[in-house]
Amino acid sequence: MATVAATALWSLLLLAAPIDAQVYMGADRSADAFTWVQPLNTTILGQYGHSEPVYPSPSSTGAGGWAEAFEKAQAFVAELTLTEKSDMVTGVPGPCIGNIYPIPRLNFSGICLQDGPVSLRIVDYVSVFPSGVTVAASWDKTVMYERNLAMGREFRAKGAHVALAPSAGPMGRCVYSGRNWEGFSPDPYLSGVAMELGIRGLQDAGVQAVAKHFVANEQEIMRNPVYYTNGTLQYEAISANVDDRTLHELYMWPFANAVHEGVSSVMCSYQRANGSYSCQNSKLLNGLLKDELGFQGYVVSDWYALHAGVDAVNAGMDMDMPGTTRYNRSYVPELARMTSLFGGNITTMVSNGSVAEARLNDMVTRIMTPYFHLRQDEDYPTVDPSSVFLNTFSNQSSWLRPWNITQDTSIRDARDNHAEIIRRHAAESTVLLKNINNALPLKAPRYIGIFGNDAGEIQNGPINRFGSDESLEYGTYAVGGGSGSGRLTYLVTPQEALKARAQQDGTVVESWLNNTLVATSDATTLWSYRGPDVCLVFLKSWAREVIDRESLELDWDGNAVVESVASSCNNTIVITHSAGVNVLPFADHPNVTAILLAHYPGQESGNSITDVLYGDVNPSGRLPYTIAYNESDYNAPIVTNIQTTGVEDWQSWFDERLEIDYRYFDANNISVQYEFGYGLSYTSFDMSDLIVESTQQSGAIQQFPAATPVTPGGNPELWQTLYTASIAVSNTGLSRGSTVPQLYISFPDSAPSGTPPRQLRGFEKVELAPGERRTVTFEIMRRDISYWDVFSQEWAVPSGDFIFHVGFSSRDLVASATVTPIAA
Ligand code: NOJ
Repeated sequence: MATVAATALWSLLLLAAPIDAQVYMGADRSADAFTWVQPLNTTILGQYGHSEPVYPSPSSTGAGGWAEAFEKAQAFVAELTLTEKSDMVTGVPGPCIGNIYPIPRLNFSGICLQDGPVSLRIVDYVSVFPSGVTVAASWDKTVMYERNLAMGREFRAKGAHVALAPSAGPMGRCVYSGRNWEGFSPDPYLSGVAMELGIRGLQDAGVQAVAKHFVANEQEIMRNPVYYTNGTLQYEAISANVDDRTLHELYMWPFANAVHEGVSSVMCSYQRANGSYSCQNSKLLNGLLKDELGFQGYVVSDWYALHAGVDAVNAGMDMDMPGTTRYNRSYVPELARMTSLFGGNITTMVSNGSVAEARLNDMVTRIMTPYFHLRQDEDYPTVDPSSVFLNTFSNQSSWLRPWNITQDTSIRDARDNHAEIIRRHAAESTVLLKNINNALPLKAPRYIGIFGNDAGEIQNGPINRFGSDESLEYGTYAVGGGSGSGRLTYLVTPQEALKARAQQDGTVVESWLNNTLVATSDATTLWSYRGPDVCLVFLKSWAREVIDRESLELDWDGNAVVESVASSCNNTIVITHSAGVNVLPFADHPNVTAILLAHYPGQESGNSITDVLYGDVNPSGRLPYTIAYNESDYNAPIVTNIQTTGVEDWQSWFDERLEIDYRYFDANNISVQYEFGYGLSYTSFDMSDLIVESTQQSGAIQQFPAATPVTPGGNPELWQTLYTASIAVSNTGLSRGSTVPQLYISFPDSAPSGTPPRQLRGFEKVELAPGERRTVTFEIMRRDISYWDVFSQEWAVPSGDFIFHVGFSSRDLVASATVTPIAA
């Protein structure tokens, strides 16, 4: 194990500690932050905030089915000059958000990297898909795969080799984090499945996927260092200080799924992790990612996230992006950097012996192996010329070398039939939280009132912005902001879709989209001759990259809008388009008859929600997080401010350890408004007859997995199914619909303290006709019943009784079985 090797090297490395081995004391943790002791010494195991050195950087081997591509990559590397190798690991300005320059003499046409998780951001004629949190709310594996397969086909059609997606960092430790919506869920298991299937979708389309941002990238504030205007450093970026167990069981977990799936690349994150910048952190990159997880692809930096040269290379960094400072600094001012650390410097590092050429060869091999594996050397579409003129990030005047790109102006429309998929996926991801008095589905109402500034058209240009949010008052949110956004080629608003649908029944539709007016008026003075039969209130909340959310309330006085409408309309239905968690103080209002969460649904937003409101799609989404009663109920806050001035003083201590989201609420018996996994349907379901079976002979399961050579994803034994659990599910209602049986596991008391009371370890969405009954089966792997043992540095199965619970949500558990893999 790398850690053992590190122990042996420890005292030696201390003498010449590279940047990632340097540790500081946090401003508020001076007493226990750090002592220089060996990493396996028990006195340090409960502490964190430092990152031990792990060297050398493991070389790739082509394991995990990449042998043929690996050989091709090695042969390719053998043809390169040192300068060409340096070029291969360094981005240059070009038509895409990230570019590796072509080498025509080897028929290599370069690599085009493009954002991001919901859409190909900087081109025209592509689709904007439902965002990550939306898809997580589907709890539907088919949706998770299909969405990215379709998106991958668009990337390919536009000549993008690499999709900078999907994201599991942030995972959602803190409800305020500005980019939670790009990823999936604060539950690592749900996120892990979504990562795996999303990667499979992209790569089945022939596009390289990038699992980002590795790791513990859980807030936006201070994600980058801050410099005074004279260029001197004021503050290092925030350090996410996570203990070893939590890192494994929460934040690394979905990345393990990604590596297991054969992800091409992993993007290291902006912030520091345990005191060392993620892109030069040898423990994270050499130790955890490449050694423990057996990752065979390349580590790409987040844009300008590289802060070291030699140290980063030796710590396991493989590709610097964007690799130059020649960019429009006004675009994202906080990203401004002074120097480029790879490029020509790589040539120097190898020439003067600071970096072994073997390491550089490995970097290029890692970059080219997925390229060959996905056959991107064969008939890959050229980079779409629309990238050139839409790419404000590195416009043509900044290109260091001419790019061989056909300057034709013809339209390359990549959207295909994806509108249909997007409409269906967003509808299937919509979560119904409340439905009383038969409010939904709508039944040809005579008069619909539409309320709220989220119902209509965006009034002030495209929504895919980094900048000011003020101009977003009017218009529905189909996607969030920043590099994970998408440029909508069209947007179906709720208002227009509802009007079109209502016409079929001759329904009268009137709209009040001014929140201030609605919130401050007596609603009866708003409507014309009599009140609507149904009042649809559309509310929203915004989130984007670079900033974190400041409140969990719905934006633009959303609560007051609901109160005002509901005070006079006894059939008020609230629909939200939001980045994630909102507190819903109106949830128990008797006149609020239904609540639907649509998150960020993508370009077909209006059609998707109309399909659900009218019952053409029976809602089957489930909460991928918990909705608490009060904002103050959530733990794990973002660090928004510090009182000290030390350059390293921005520290975020993940002291809650494993207790985030439902793990925290369950461990502390806190009542919540709507629990993790919750969601209603227009029909009803029943579950019974849980049967758990072991795939192993009695007594065969050992505490630790057998020492099997690591393949991508880690020790292959971790992925071995040890139990199957089956349960019969019936549709007991009158309409066709889908439900999501969920399996949660309680560990025995012998597991170390801090183990959450229940953890999600299986889910399956099942569609049933009225009266139909089907059996759903979950496969429980070794990893699912293991905790990360910090002493042995292994996943360990604790002895004693596990309880497998199956139910409709994390707090609606209808059946359970006791399982004893290892007797106490
Ligand atoms: C920064 C973001 O953090 C990352 O997700 C994105 O892929 C790059 N910028 C490129 O736009």
